[in-house]
Amino acid sequence: MQIQSNFSLQKLNSFGFLSYAEYFVSVENELELSNAIEFATHKNIPWQVLGSGSNVVLQDFLPGLTIQMSILGKKLVSESAMHFYIDCGAGENWHDFVRWTIEEGYPGLENLALIPGTTGAAPIQNIGAYGAEAASMIDSVEVLDTKSLQKTQSITEVDLNTQQSWQVIPKEECEFAYRDSIFKRDLQAYVVTQVRFAIPKKWQANLSYAELANYFLENKSPSAQEIFDAVVTIRSQKLPDPTLLGNAGSFFHNPIVDLATYTQLKEKFTNLVSYPAPDLLGEKQFKLAAGWLIDQCGLKGYRVADCGVYEKQALVLVNYGAAKGSEMLDLANHIKQTVFEKFGVLLSQEPINLP
Ligand code: EPU
Repeated sequence: MQIQSNFSLQKLNSFGFLSYAEYFVSVENELELSNAIEFATHKNIPWQVLGSGSNVVLQDFLPGLTIQMSILGKKLVSESAMHFYIDCGAGENWHDFVRWTIEEGYPGLENLALIPGTTGAAPIQNIGAYGAEAASMIDSVEVLDTKSLQKTQSITEVDLNTQQSWQVIPKEECEFAYRDSIFKRDLQAYVVTQVRFAIPKKWQANLSYAELANYFLENKSPSAQEIFDAVVTIRSQKLPDPTLLGNAGSFFHNPIVDLATYTQLKEKFTNLVSYPAPDLLGEKQFKLAAGWLIDQCGLKGYRVADCGVYEKQALVLVNYGAAKGSEMLDLANHIKQTVFEKFGVLLSQEPINLP
């Protein structure tokens, strides 16, 4: 494990922002991870974990230690009558993992193909797309509980197996919600090291998302591989490839509003794009398409210096070359304000700001 100082993160964030970490380390196993956090604790400096940097807005300088999660490994660990149980290291590339599950005969994650990022980020964000959410196939999440780690003086390999710091959090305790979980609410409390998936043995195609259903109008019973390929095709058409044009996928959540707000908006904007959302305390809720709201404000393709609203999908902000994180946040604020003035709806940001 090598700790480097003044390390460039430009290639490690999908926006491609120029950003430097005061200290940087890539960790390949649990021992290296706890040693890295210990290093920061002893030096009394902050630390943060970076996955593949596909859902973050980095500022020019990240004080303290930036830890790149590189714990790898994926395998079938057991099976029951109903499920395959598969463990995947937090540093594994998500899309490669999804492809592997299908190739190995454990289909179920195909709707989530091509989502950039690591597998460790899947439960943090509860990633979702094309009518599916990662949470539905997560069994449990193995984490380092950093609060209990700070109580121990030093950690050896032997301690690693015995101490309380390593926890397996069952799905029911992860508080999964739309792009949310207990891990996201306090990024410093736990570091995700491995995810256990429970993939149902009885596979069923999920074509609930209209765009995907339309793709298969001619083929009524597509295979998991065909759905995987379709999702890759649809995503590639709408979302920019971060290796060609810096971006972090959707920059805003799709806002959820109550019935009264929805009714008022629908009266004023008859073509409002909305979907029924799960009830909250027995009250009806609606999800609005943030991309549509931004588009209706005439902001699709809008550009300030090297920061822009992607011309094919208004929910995605892009870096045309030399944009800084702070400039992107200025653009995001302008979008939020414009949408609020027109619709009275406040957008919330999806990528995490670091620091
Ligand atoms: N729309 C517009 N103009 C735009 C963009 C969208 O009018 O510029 C309209 C579309 O025509 C459509 C609706 O808004 O009627 C929704 O658009 P789309 O189907 O493209 O999906 P989205 O709501 O914009 C969400 C996720 C994506 C995910 C897709 C597909 C969020 C914040 N975003 O986008 O997730 O891939 O659905 O399931 O929930 C991500 O999180 O990074 C991400 C890309």
